Parts: sequence; structure tokens; C-alpha cells
Amino acid sequence: MTAEEAQLLEKLDLNRLPRHVAVIMDGNGRWAQQRHLPRVAGHSSGTKTARSTIETCARLKIEALTLYAFSVENWRRPKSEIDFLMQLLREYLRKEMPLLQKNHIRMRFLGRTDELPKGVQDDVRDAMERTAGNKGMVLCVALNYGGRAEIVDAMNAILADQNGNAGRAPITEETLTRHMYTSGLPDPDLLIRTSGEMRVSNFLLWQIAYAEIFVTETLWPDFNRARLLEALVEYQKRERRYGGIREGQAGPEKSARVVGE
Ligand code: FPP
Repeated sequence: MTAEEAQLLEKLDLNRLPRHVAVIMDGNGRWAQQRHLPRVAGHSSGTKTARSTIETCARLKIEALTLYAFSVENWRRPKSEIDFLMQLLREYLRKEMPLLQKNHIRMRFLGRTDELPKGVQDDVRDAMERTAGNKGMVLCVALNYGGRAEIVDAMNAILADQNGNAGRAPITEETLTRHMYTSGLPDPDLLIRTSGEMRVSNFLLWQIAYAEIFVTETLWPDFNRARLLEALVEYQKRERRYGGIREGQAGPEKSARVVGE
């Protein structure tokens, strides 16, 4: 651990960490461009950042980490770049399995994974099956993911459930939450976006309703452990209000979340 990391770790209250951290990993292309390298070199370097982020979050015992690896819009990129990203993910799953297992990480994939190339689908299924019994952090990789597509898929799943049922129950927020790809996970408390863009980019639209957003100018390949710890320290400085009163001031039973005022 570097001196900077140790200092940041000291500032961190381990009892008030976010339960779920979501990350828009942006800036790989710019990172490569700055070094006169092909864009894909930025993606390769980005996997190293993914590795350190995953390991750090798992060690901090954060419940869930979601990484935005490939959006439904990313199919518009050149075929060579898409092929490279898919290959990188497959390699990552193969190479990093020991690290995932060692850290008791359970993998999930969020998105229309049935539209991915066959080989990727096989590896995705394999990674989920091999880590299904793990009880540590849930690592979600958003792959062929779109926030609007997710809401549409949830609505269609609800309709399919209701087909044939005589009495159709009205749809509630709880029903929709249960049919999202993230079913069973807490909503992200912290959304990190690297490389400075102030956009949500169709990411977890339903789930980030109350998330704190942390945007950093740092490009994803440079987002090292210190920068992640910095984001967590910054998160803890924020006053979380949820439209109600300040967290921790609602009395013991109500301190978790006060919504809807
Ligand atoms: C955005 O940078 C990044 C991506 C579209 C891909 C992210 C993928 C990885 C970091 C590697 C694989 C991930 C895992 C979980 C192993 P960009 O190309 O949009 O950068 P730019 O905005 O600078 O062009």
C-alpha cells in the first residue's frame, strides 16, 4: 500500500461505506490517444483498473459493484473494436477466475446477454455458474446493457408473469424493482464516472434515483486504488437526504432511508 492510499484509508469510515458502487468506466480511448496508441490499448489498460477496483471493493466488503463494460449503443463502434472488447472480456473471465474465487466474488451480468456472440454467452454462463456459491461481493458486469431496455424487459417480464392470472395486481415500484436485472441487490449509493463527462448514458436509470454521483476528470486507465478511495471519502462527506431528513437523524428505526417527502 502506498502512503497516499494509507492516508485515504485512514479517513474512511468502514462502517459507512456505500452498499453498492456503480461505475461508468470512460476515457480509455482518450488515454490511448494521449499516448499515440490505438484505442484498444486503452481498453487493455482499463482491464487492469477493473481488476484493482474489483479487488479493493471486495476487500472493503462492499456488497455489490457494477461495471458498465458494454452498452446497447456500443454496437455502433467499429467491428474491430467490438471484437476486441468481447475478446478482452472473455480473456478477463478466464484469467481472473482465481482472483474472483479467492475474494469469494459472485458474478452477475446485466443486459441482453442472449444477443451476445455465442462464445461470450458460454463464458458468461460459465463465470456465473462457477461463482454462484460465493458469499462475498456481487460483481455485476453490464454487458449489452441499456437502462431503457432494462425497464422495457422488466415490464415485459411482469406482463408474462401476469398472463393467465385472473386478477391482475397493479404494478408497484416494488414489482418493477423485482423484475430488474439487479433484482435482489441494493440500489447503488454511489455512481462513479471517470473522464469528466456529466452524463448518465442510459446506465441503471431506475436504480440510481437516489445515488450520489462522483465525476472525476481522471481517465479510466488512470483510476487507481487511491482515486477510488478518494471517491469513497468524498461520498462520506456528502449529506444524504433522500428528499427527507438527513440520514442518521431519523431515529434508530428510520435511519436507513427516508423517502418521498
Ligand atoms: C469507455 O471508454 C470504455 C468502454 C466502452 C469499455 C470498457 C471496458 C473495459 C475497461 C474492459 C473490460 C471490462 C471488464 C469488466 C473486464 P471509451 O472508449 O468510450 O473512451 P473515450 O470516451 O475516451 O473514447
